[in-house]
Amino acid sequence: MIIQYPQDLLAEVHQRVTGHNLAGFTPGQGKLKPDIMLVGEAPGRHEEVHNIPFSGASGKELMKMLATIGYNRENVYITSVVRQRPYSIKRVTDKKTGKVIVKKPNRTPTKKEVLAFANLFDWELEQVQPKIIVPLGNTALQRLLGAKANIGQLHGQLLEQPIQHAKKDGSGYELATINSKLVPMYHPAAVLYSRKLEPTIRDDWQQLGKYLHKIN
Ligand code: URA
Repeated sequence: MIIQYPQDLLAEVHQRVTGHNLAGFTPGQGKLKPDIMLVGEAPGRHEEVHNIPFSGASGKELMKMLATIGYNRENVYITSVVRQRPYSIKRVTDKKTGKVIVKKPNRTPTKKEVLAFANLFDWELEQVQPKIIVPLGNTALQRLLGAKANIGQLHGQLLEQPIQHAKKDGSGYELATINSKLVPMYHPAAVLYSRKLEPTIRDDWQQLGKYLHKIN
């Protein structure tokens, strides 16, 4: 299912990101009360056009990994900490025509942009109630566990600890009073840049499969 976000939270986001280079709006999607909630960084160009989270090149890698532990798009929930595509503006000269063309490549969302979406993300997490949260990459991991958390150290581990929630006044984050279960993973795009990571990522998914087996 595609989640319907409350209008007041959407209006708050809209107001906070006015003037930022952000495009489209890709809602989170999947099963409520799932075993796992996958949390990415932000939609890319493919997601902006098709409005389905993780439907582009990194999505293909992600689906491959999910399938190795018996899951698919329908029996998990998929979202990201920012729901619009962050882009930068680049002016490049076309070598053939000599004309200047404007390109809008994807970029990592800023901390301010992640914070602008933080109340919306907290609301979504409350609706979804996953057994295990799976942050994919540092942007999602640091949104949940703070700036010192690092995917290179925490990938594939089962953590039980309080996660960060947005303060209602929008000024930053505070820790929850209860523990959540998390298994951080490398972002699936990491393997597109470095094939060397593939065996590690495969092992991490197998670990997640074992944790899920234990709690189910
Ligand atoms: N990267 C993300 O974090 N989310 C997507 O939906 C696609 C790429």
